[in-house]
Amino acid sequence: MGRVQLDELFLVEFRNIHRVTIEPSPRFNIVSGRNGTGKTNLLEAIYLLGSMRSFRQSRRVDMVRRGAKETSIRGRFGNVCAGMVCEIKMGNEGRQVKIDGKRAHLDGRYFHSLPMVIFHPGNLTIVQGGPDARRRFLDRALFQAEISYQEAYRSYGKAIASRNRILKTRPLDKRALDSFDEQLASHGARIVMMRERLVISMTPLFEEAMERIGGEGQSRMAYRPKIEGGFDKIMSALRGAVEKDTAMGYTTAGPHADDLVFEVNGLDARKFASQGQQRTVVLAAKIAEIGSLEKSTGRTPLLLLDDVSSELDRDRNRHLFGFLAGLGGQVFITTTHHDHIPIEGDRVDFFVENGSIEVN
Ligand SMILES: Nc1ncnc2c1ncn2[C@@H]1O[C@H](COP(=O)(O)OP(=O)(O)O)[C@@H](O)[C@H]1O
Ligand SMILES: [Mg+2]
Repeated sequence: MGRVQLDELFLVEFRNIHRVTIEPSPRFNIVSGRNGTGKTNLLEAIYLLGSMRSFRQSRRVDMVRRGAKETSIRGRFGNVCAGMVCEIKMGNEGRQVKIDGKRAHLDGRYFHSLPMVIFHPGNLTIVQGGPDARRRFLDRALFQAEISYQEAYRSYGKAIASRNRILKTRPLDKRALDSFDEQLASHGARIVMMRERLVISMTPLFEEAMERIGGEGQSRMAYRPKIEGGFDKIMSALRGAVEKDTAMGYTTAGPHADDLVFEVNGLDARKFASQGQQRTVVLAAKIAEIGSLEKSTGRTPLLLLDDVSSELDRDRNRHLFGFLAGLGGQVFITTTHHDHIPIEGDRVDFFVENGSIEVN
């Protein structure tokens, strides 16, 4: 299978990085350095190329080096994307993206062509946090897995903003509300269908990973849509909730309130799993995401692992690196000590110090 492969990365004024060019290995890239030197920043820049978002949920201006006006992130890809060059410029004026030197409008195809999976300490919120963290996990995977997800997601978001505006008007404009109900139900049904498809494809992979990594039998993940079913069900739920929604001033039911549940030994992992089990759940969910994206995009995603060795115990680390050895994609791993990473061949070591990056 082909893979997403970054052959060259050129950064200017990104976070604490003034100017850096690296040529990563097609397989394992170990990025080491003391705390606060710029390791996570490097992964953030790579992830931006694939998703156009920061996994830290940072604002654009926060990513421009303090004192600079603009940052530029340029990646040259190889393998299945051979020769593709993507450049992002961000500053106070907004964002500009060029692909192969031409200004690009990014649609779902772009994200589908560059699947990337990030695993970082903040991901524990997927288990511990509220439903919004789990929806974000699903949505981010779906922007890459399904070409039409982005469009459905945006249209739904617009329709719900309009419906919420109308819910606050007095007297209530019932006709306008009806028309937005229909839009919401139509985009919402597509979102629910794609979320369902994703979770169904992830479930066996998740169960297998739980078994292998943690020896946790009886683990499962399941999609919990706020409204089960398609267009008609969502439509009648919206109609039925008009009184309540008008009183609340916003739309109470719909895919924007969906959830995802993880169970370990038959119990909700959020409430009952130990810290170690929760970390295993997140790792297994990410492994399932990789496998599912491989199927839907036809290429192995680029994998970014931020500080995992400090997060996982020895056994889980061993399983993780065993899995990675068989994965066959390009991987970036940050760590405070490069000898913590038990990967023998096929690796390039980068050392980060105060925003500069050197190759071993
Ligand atoms: N916009 C910015 N301009 C300059 N420095 C920044 C900016 N954003 C973050 N930093 C600096 O980047 C450093 C953190 O880098 P990070 O990659 O998170 O470290 P680590 O190597 O521990 O992963 C901090 O010293 C922080 O002050
Ligand atoms: Mg870090």
